[in-house]
Amino acid sequence: MSETKNLGDVLRAHVSVRDYADRPVEDDVRDRILEAAFAASSTCFLQLIDIIRITNPEKRARLMTLSGNQAHVASAPEFWVFCADYRRDALLAGEADLGWTEQLLAATLDAGIVAQSAMAALEAEGLGGVFVGGLRNGIAEVDALLELPQNVVPLLGLAFGYPAWRNERKPRLPQSVTVMENVYRDADPGQIAAYDARMHEYFACRAKNPRDDTWINGVRGILRRERRPFVLEFLQKKGFGLK
Ligand SMILES: Cc1cc2nc3c(=O)[nH]c(=O)nc-3n(C[C@H](O)[C@H](O)[C@H](O)COP(=O)(O)O)c2cc1C
Repeated sequence: MSETKNLGDVLRAHVSVRDYADRPVEDDVRDRILEAAFAASSTCFLQLIDIIRITNPEKRARLMTLSGNQAHVASAPEFWVFCADYRRDALLAGEADLGWTEQLLAATLDAGIVAQSAMAALEAEGLGGVFVGGLRNGIAEVDALLELPQNVVPLLGLAFGYPAWRNERKPRLPQSVTVMENVYRDADPGQIAAYDARMHEYFACRAKNPRDDTWINGVRGILRRERRPFVLEFLQKKGFGLK
């Protein structure tokens, strides 16, 4: 019998897992993860989130390419796509007033909450996974591949399975930087520098893919270039973020 794990311990032990054992995820395990995911809170109880399980190998291969050739998209025993879905509720409501940016925010938040619940649940089962935001590199193509109708969009992927390899945990920014009291406070540069030195050591010393890099370098690499500029037009075409 498996030992019951404390949820806080599971969350604190999180690492993204991108290498998987050649072992399928059992149906009952998958069902428990899905039940946990959909037990998450839901904005106005609209239940806006769908999970599309990708079992077709050709679709997996295509999604891997669309996600920037991330091998785990094809190799993971399970790959799920989290979608925001206003279609189901709008059909029920009739004359639904869609297109509000607030509705997009609500569905995006709900998708993140459902996805993280799935991650926590699968980690509690001894599995490991990684989110794949990279599928938004080809968001329109993913949308077409999954035959998503108007008012339904793909937001995030999740690849998971039994781990063949687990990275060392990545240190996080100290809470003296990320936790504030009552009002906003800019980060202390000394604390950021000390954290960056820790991350430099982490990158240099980790067992797999060691490299000479820092956290700030990564932030600069991401923030100093355009970010999927086609996403706004895509979302608006699908009926999101119009007003
Ligand atoms: C919304 C979201 C999207 C992500 N997309 C990707 C992705 O496309 N590919 C990937 O390898 N990791 C992806 N990640 C994982 C992050 O790179 C990872 O969480 C971060 O580097 C911290 O590492 P850790 O999860 O091992 O602690 C994503 C994480 C989040 C929250």
